[in-house]
Amino acid sequence: MSLDTIEINKQRQNLFDREEIWLFGYGSLIYKVDFPFLEKSPASLYGWTRRFWQGSHDHRGTPDNPGRVLTLIESMDEHCTGMAYRVSHDVFDHLDHREKNGYLRYDVDLQLANNITKAGLVYIAPENNLAYLGEASEESIAQHIHQSHGPSGSNRDYVLHLAEALRTMGVDDPHVFEIERYLLEYA
Ligand code: SIN
Repeated sequence: MSLDTIEINKQRQNLFDREEIWLFGYGSLIYKVDFPFLEKSPASLYGWTRRFWQGSHDHRGTPDNPGRVLTLIESMDEHCTGMAYRVSHDVFDHLDHREKNGYLRYDVDLQLANNITKAGLVYIAPENNLAYLGEASEESIAQHIHQSHGPSGSNRDYVLHLAEALRTMGVDDPHVFEIERYLLEYA
């Protein structure tokens, strides 16, 4: 799969046909909301979990020294809690550009905080994308993140902002919090 997914994502869903679009954010889309939305709600995606297994050449790293950012990994017994935003189809030009480094838009079912299930969209970087870095221990992920910087800022800040946002939402994520703990030790 090519690294830049903008053109692929444009073909994936016909968003104009949809009455309502809910976008699920589990990483930077929780704390950096640079797009308009109509309403938002904490939401969970069952069967998936967050991992810092995706490379970032464009935001938190560079083509020569990619950083590490989140993707979702299938995990039957787990769920990922993040933020769902009801958006208009016209935000996707911006979002497809922002998430272009290997992420594809997937159709999923989201469980909103009020227990209502909604059809949603989520950006996931699948294992076969060229920026995929894969599994590593939390300690080595933290060491990698500690050294990475890109046009959107330090890779460290991605983790710290996310951890703070998850804590505010009352979400426990041992993978994120362990990486945060290592990063705070290096500071
Ligand atoms: C997301 O936040 O939902 C996708 C990954 C990212 O942009 O950090």
